[in-house]
Amino acid sequence: MSSFTGNHILSVSQFDRDAIELVFSVAQSMEPYARRQKRTTVLEGAILGNLFFEPSTRTRVSFGTAFNLLGGEVRETTGMANSALAKGESLYDTARVLSGYSDIIAMRHPAAGSVAEFAEGSRVPVLNGGDGANEHPTQALLDLFTIKRELQFNNKTIDGLHIAMIGDLRYGRTVHSLSKLLCLFKNVRFTLISPKELAMPDYILEAIENAGHSLKVTDQLEGNMDADICYQTRIQEERFPSQDEANKYRGKFRLNQSIYTRHFQSKTVIMHPLPRDSRTEANELDNDLNLNPNLAIFRQTDNGVLVRMALFALTLGVENLVSQYEKPVIWYSNKS
Ligand code: NCD
Repeated sequence: MSSFTGNHILSVSQFDRDAIELVFSVAQSMEPYARRQKRTTVLEGAILGNLFFEPSTRTRVSFGTAFNLLGGEVRETTGMANSALAKGESLYDTARVLSGYSDIIAMRHPAAGSVAEFAEGSRVPVLNGGDGANEHPTQALLDLFTIKRELQFNNKTIDGLHIAMIGDLRYGRTVHSLSKLLCLFKNVRFTLISPKELAMPDYILEAIENAGHSLKVTDQLEGNMDADICYQTRIQEERFPSQDEANKYRGKFRLNQSIYTRHFQSKTVIMHPLPRDSRTEANELDNDLNLNPNLAIFRQTDNGVLVRMALFALTLGVENLVSQYEKPVIWYSNKS
């Protein structure tokens, strides 16, 4: 049993480098199952409660897919209006009840701190799928896993990385969690590009500085930045006081092939937690980048399944049993 077994995953603050390495090595070992070269029934009979009280496509579905790929079943609750929270039930009561129906829970909720509050009432491990503008630990782990893999192609490591983060750094929980995780590494250079009003919160800037990393904060894309990773984000319109307020910032930092060529290296990896806002007024990651081999956004989403499989296996203590419960794949599959 690892230190993960039976525990919640609420924040990236719970991780050290050893824990990250363990997640990554288990994630790596999940590849044949995710690629349908073989399957496993190690979690047969287990139930995931997938509770998404805020819009989600890839996080919700990849949590479910990851659990299914390990042989488990998924019960889903989506939307606040469809749950008893809309009748005034507390997070604690909802947690007491739903944890009686499941072996593990993944949860997303619009309020910062809500998933931790829910976890206090839960009798089973809870994985944070995003709590307001606060944290998104599983996304940060899959982002870091992707960064590690992408850098390996260029013979680089996370230590010494130069990352440019662009867009809504104030409300974007993925950049908060990823920055905190990067504080565990050495000599990282951060270039943070956002409108002043949407700058990275001070407590993250302090963590970056306390980790001894180099930090540049700016409100413009300037010159050629020499970044290894360009991490673009969406204006988190749902967290703004009004749509008019959000509209002020939409489209401020577009990225297309010609802007990329001007400001980045030919090998700079382009990441985005997705969804990218492809409406004309935003268009933050233009379709003309789709054929750029450095666009890693769909490798990120594939890696999300591996990392979430690893987190389920570790939390439920079956990470060493996965191959014992192996079966062949008998249907047509072209994933490998
Ligand atoms: C992100 C989120 O929900 O925080 N999406 C995701 O989980 N992949 C980012 C976003 O919605 O912009």
